[in-house]
Amino acid sequence: MTNTENNAKWWKNAVVYQIYPRSFQDSNGDGIGDLRGIIRRMDYLGKLGIDAIWLSPVCKSPQEDNGYDISDYQDIDPMFGNVDDMEALIAEAKKYNIRIIMDLVLNHTSDKHRWFEEAKKSKDNPYHDYYVWRDGREGVLPNDMKGVFGGSAWEWVPELNQYYFHQFLPQQPDLNWENPQVRKEIYDMILWWMDKGVGGFRLDVIDQIAKEPDQGITNNGPRLHEFIRELSRETFQKGDLITVGEAWGATPEIAKLYSNPDGSEFSMVFQFEHIGLDQQEGKEKWDLAPLPFIKLKKILTRWQTELHGCGWNSLFWNNHDLPRIVSRWGNDGEYRVESAKMLAILLHGMQGTPYIYQGEELGMTNVQYDIEDYRDVEILNMYKERTEAGYAREDVMRSIHAKGRDNARTPMQWDDTENAGFTEGTPWIKVNSNYQEINAKSQVNDPDSIFNCYKKLIQLRKEYDIFVEGDFTLLLEEDENIFAYQRKNDKQTMLVICNFFDQTIKMPLEEKCSDMKMLIGNYDKIEDASILRPYEARIYVK
Ligand code: NOJ
Repeated sequence: MTNTENNAKWWKNAVVYQIYPRSFQDSNGDGIGDLRGIIRRMDYLGKLGIDAIWLSPVCKSPQEDNGYDISDYQDIDPMFGNVDDMEALIAEAKKYNIRIIMDLVLNHTSDKHRWFEEAKKSKDNPYHDYYVWRDGREGVLPNDMKGVFGGSAWEWVPELNQYYFHQFLPQQPDLNWENPQVRKEIYDMILWWMDKGVGGFRLDVIDQIAKEPDQGITNNGPRLHEFIRELSRETFQKGDLITVGEAWGATPEIAKLYSNPDGSEFSMVFQFEHIGLDQQEGKEKWDLAPLPFIKLKKILTRWQTELHGCGWNSLFWNNHDLPRIVSRWGNDGEYRVESAKMLAILLHGMQGTPYIYQGEELGMTNVQYDIEDYRDVEILNMYKERTEAGYAREDVMRSIHAKGRDNARTPMQWDDTENAGFTEGTPWIKVNSNYQEINAKSQVNDPDSIFNCYKKLIQLRKEYDIFVEGDFTLLLEEDENIFAYQRKNDKQTMLVICNFFDQTIKMPLEEKCSDMKMLIGNYDKIEDASILRPYEARIYVK
């Protein structure tokens, strides 16, 4: 049955768990996580109850951007294992009813990909047109477009007297999607992975594939949805997959196309409107600003209401590019446990497919390393650029501590032994020093742990249809402390009430929920129903 015909859409009540393979579990002592390590931890994931694992890229790569620079789409990087290990992982996960979602990086390849090595040889090489080139003169750039990781988006190749276009690092040349041969090669590769039993795909920066550099267009280019529909038709629609596009430029209007229930594009997209809220307007993520809470409520509400019945949301606070949510919008001090659970309850009560990023289910926190201990090229490039431009070092470090991608990339904290049980070697990046307090071992069997709160939320989503079906109404819109909403279908009403801050406040919805059943909360007992304690969160149903 194709995705289009399958009305059941298994991924609607699924919960996805993202693994960043190099930081999850090392099995061979080289200090880098690998596929065999993930296999070893499948029991843990089975206990949590997730339905799918999104694996950040494991294909062959020089690792300039930790695997988002692929040099062979049909091979596994030796650092992670080999294709047999990947097949073993798919088979092992299947025993737990868990599907494997691969990360497809289709906007660009590595500059070490065979296609690019050929493309660079001459203008009439058959692979030349696989990439985006402009004739020119050295030092006279085609235009002033910048790469996401700093510097120009154009790189000079003297042998050809041409520049090639790269939206990310110079080692990540952009593919030319206008070329039908490129698209065909990509589809064949995807079908090859589907044949191996892959359960879905996450599509890296997919809104940037249809670029028009001469017009300065990177995302949402004119041919974007034409390309995506062809991609979907030629590949995904031949299986029963979950597909999720990464789309920084998505609005609800555009997301309705991406997640059209007719299955013509993807299952859903990651949108990032809420993610940019705590930065100064018109500036970069490093330019910090306090979170405008009322705006957060408005934005999340808009996505909930606009996609209801005509699209599908993905729900996430975290991924491998974002700081840890408990440190960012929760409280990683006194109320770490309460606030981590509150954020989980708030998100999992919404309509959409939730994504949990490794360690989020333990309340893992940000780190505050010295610059030498960071590994991420984005952090290192920004540090250099800003310190050279005269920014104060303390301010640059404050930004890195708040927003740096390595916050999410420190090793998974399994137990309180050396290196948190992640590796017997030297970890590729330092372990967060709080691993003796925050680790999986201490939480799995503790009914009051953050882990067990996530586990219960996953179960509730499967037990109560209202999580999948219910419509969404924001309550107490202008309340400065409370994020509350109602979900409703033809059988039930559900209330989600969260105190987003660290003060005890009056509970304004006491009467409304007096005849409802409480499904989950983040405090042991309710002694006084007229108040909400710091970060208190509850879900009621009737
Ligand atoms: C988005 C990925 O999530 C990020 O980690 C990567 O650096 C860029 N795309 C480039 O592929």
